[in-house]
Amino acid sequence: MAPDALVLGEVDAYYGDSHVLQKVSLRLGEGRLLGLLGRNGAGKTTCMNVAVGLLPPRAGTVTLFGEAVTARPPETIARRGMALVPQGRHIFKSLSVRENLTVAARKPAVGGRHSWTLEAVFASFPRLAERQHHAASHLSGGEQQMLAIGRALMSNPRVLLMDEPSEGLAPQIVGEVMAMVRRLKQQGLSILLVEQNAKLVLDVADDIIILNNGRVAVADTVAGMEASGVDLHHHLGVF
Ligand SMILES: Nc1ncnc2c1ncn2[C@@H]1O[C@H](COP(=O)(O)OP(=O)(O)O)[C@@H](O)[C@H]1O
Ligand SMILES: [Mg+2]
Repeated sequence: MAPDALVLGEVDAYYGDSHVLQKVSLRLGEGRLLGLLGRNGAGKTTCMNVAVGLLPPRAGTVTLFGEAVTARPPETIARRGMALVPQGRHIFKSLSVRENLTVAARKPAVGGRHSWTLEAVFASFPRLAERQHHAASHLSGGEQQMLAIGRALMSNPRVLLMDEPSEGLAPQIVGEVMAMVRRLKQQGLSILLVEQNAKLVLDVADDIIILNNGRVAVADTVAGMEASGVDLHHHLGVF
């Protein structure tokens, strides 16, 4: 059987003395979309930080396509095919749209396909093509989110981590972002999607993890979760 794209195995992570993730395990199958839900402060971003090597776990393992990458430097993990669209976007505001994309260009990792060039990103995001010579600081929130996604794609990843891509965007733009997520999944990318908005995730995800206070409260397929009648309101507060 093909190995999973990304596995966190019983991860414990700390910021200083603060124990933020407690034996967190999650499994993203190749070509699947795993939705990671949880209240504010539950530990979702921390899971992403551990996965991409920004926060080495105190215990537990991170495995990418069957290969251990636990606590390897972010650069090494990126080279093996993982890309992050960070919460808050973190694009280079003083660089142009085009420069933001070209600095992120990378050949695909072994096993990945070279699908994403500047032209391919511009074809998928026509607004970015139109504004390619503008400073990123002049883009709207939605355009900045598209740029953050385009930048991650320029590394030709095999696994894409997206941390609250809909945050702060108008509903119509959220719709465009989610349509892009769907297309990327159809192209075979393995995606870990963090969202506050559970409804958005349930529409696109195959599998769901709900974190509560740094622990996994629910791990199931979307179908399984709907069949067992998990009380999202109980786990997430609002729904
Ligand atoms: N850099 C940091 N230093 C100390 N504590 C942090 C840091 N980042 C996050 N935390 C704390 O870790 C917990 C989990 O945060 P986070 O992973 O950002 O949650 P989420 O993404 O689910 O909102 C929260 O209690 C948060 O306050
Ligand atoms: Mg977060």
